[in-house]
Amino acid sequence: MRRPASIAPPKGKLGVLTPGMGAVSTTFISGVELVRTGAALPIGSLTQLSTIRLGKRTDGRSPLIQEFVPLAKLDQLSFGGWDIFPDTAYEAARKAGVLEPHHLEKVKGLLNGIRPMKAAFDRKYVKKLDGAHVKKGKNKYELAEQIKEDIREFKKKSGADRLVMVWCGSTEIFLTPHAVHADPAKFEKAMKENHAAIAPSMLYAWAAVTSGVPFANGAPNLTVDIPAMHELAREHNVPICGKDFKTGQTLLKTILAPGFKARMLGLNGWFSTNILGNRDGEVLDDPESFKTKEESKLGVLEYILQPQLYPQLYGKMHHKVRINYYPPRGDNKEGWDNIDIFGWLGYPMQIKVDFLCRDSILAAPIVLDLVLFLDLAQRAGMRGIQEWLSFYFKSPMCAPQLYPEHDLFIQLMKLKNTLRWMMGEDLITHLGNEYYD
Ligand SMILES: NC(=O)c1ccc[n+]([C@@H]2O[C@H](COP(=O)([O-])OP(=O)(O)OC[C@H]3O[C@@H](n4cnc5c(N)ncnc54)[C@H](O)[C@@H]3O)[C@@H](O)[C@H]2O)c1
Repeated sequence: MRRPASIAPPKGKLGVLTPGMGAVSTTFISGVELVRTGAALPIGSLTQLSTIRLGKRTDGRSPLIQEFVPLAKLDQLSFGGWDIFPDTAYEAARKAGVLEPHHLEKVKGLLNGIRPMKAAFDRKYVKKLDGAHVKKGKNKYELAEQIKEDIREFKKKSGADRLVMVWCGSTEIFLTPHAVHADPAKFEKAMKENHAAIAPSMLYAWAAVTSGVPFANGAPNLTVDIPAMHELAREHNVPICGKDFKTGQTLLKTILAPGFKARMLGLNGWFSTNILGNRDGEVLDDPESFKTKEESKLGVLEYILQPQLYPQLYGKMHHKVRINYYPPRGDNKEGWDNIDIFGWLGYPMQIKVDFLCRDSILAAPIVLDLVLFLDLAQRAGMRGIQEWLSFYFKSPMCAPQLYPEHDLFIQLMKLKNTLRWMMGEDLITHLGNEYYD
């Protein structure tokens, strides 16, 4: 990929579309509104809070990322989306139970004005949910065309100059790549034939990409991670990324595991279990949706620890992940990790992590950053898979010949170096020998 010759300025409104307007989506929208009215801080968001060092350590140049690269401002964002339930964003946020009334009341005006559009939905792919606010069509292609019409209509009504779409819908059943995903023509034919390998989330992705709208996938579904979509994204000059927001337990895993490996400590096993009681938890109570999530969560350790390179340390590691639907906890999940490590001469040690986390509170700033970075990437002419956004995902998308990078610290370095590269600044390698001449 060539360095962008120039980056178009972020003029006008940026419309954010989320298929799925549940806990994550409404917590994100409410948060943006609270931040822009000065009622809260955008904690957890790199685009809003992080600085980036430029040049030598002695130069003292560390601007905020948002001052370094031309990002859209929060005031320029407007919101829309789809859901299988007709609730306004306010009603959905209340039901999700993430934010407290003193926050929700402040954003009631905005949220009440956001009504989801009818969803492209099929219970076959999300067995635990059923809603009547859904589109009707002869086949999947027709449904996807209806989504394209929704996109055009939203753009007109909201007066947005540009759009970004982030899948915040439920986790669908586990699908593996199929021959019909191989190229755009096969994909289109399969939509017309109602092929089972085409999940609803793919219809949104297809509609977005072929409308020139950048797409991020917050769930572990295949969705935009198939050759047909990669090709369409290049053809339509659209940046895409996914999969599955890296929030609670997996975030901690990708913080801790690189540390063990850095110090050449061994790992015998990692047992992770969760209780959560939100709608996401209910959906994941279905074994087929859980399988999609499990695959996404399991890959992380293999890639970080590289047992093939370090058989004595990681060759026998046992990794288990459990998710238990437990309604009393709502969105405030609790995740336990038991980590069996070993040190010098093989002596065993144990680490226990008990993370009382808030899923959507961790996910909302990710949605915001993805929206702003994908919009930046598009204005910079960057198309196809945006591997530099791996930082935000449990199963980062990457070129087919590569393995994904899961180490949070390498991901962060890649993200910041990509921003430096986009702006023509020197990359930071941390070599630092120039200080000792
Ligand atoms: N919260 C987190 O920390 C986190 C982390 C990683 C991934 N995720 C993923 O993000 C997604 C959203 O999570 P959430 O907690 O907001 O879940 P949620 O259940 O509160 O919201 C998802 C919404 O999507 C809707 N939906 C389902 N299928 C749809 C379709 N085809 N079209 C339109 N709407 C559809 C549902 O009706 C629901 O309202 C889930 O897939 C979840 O696995 C969440």
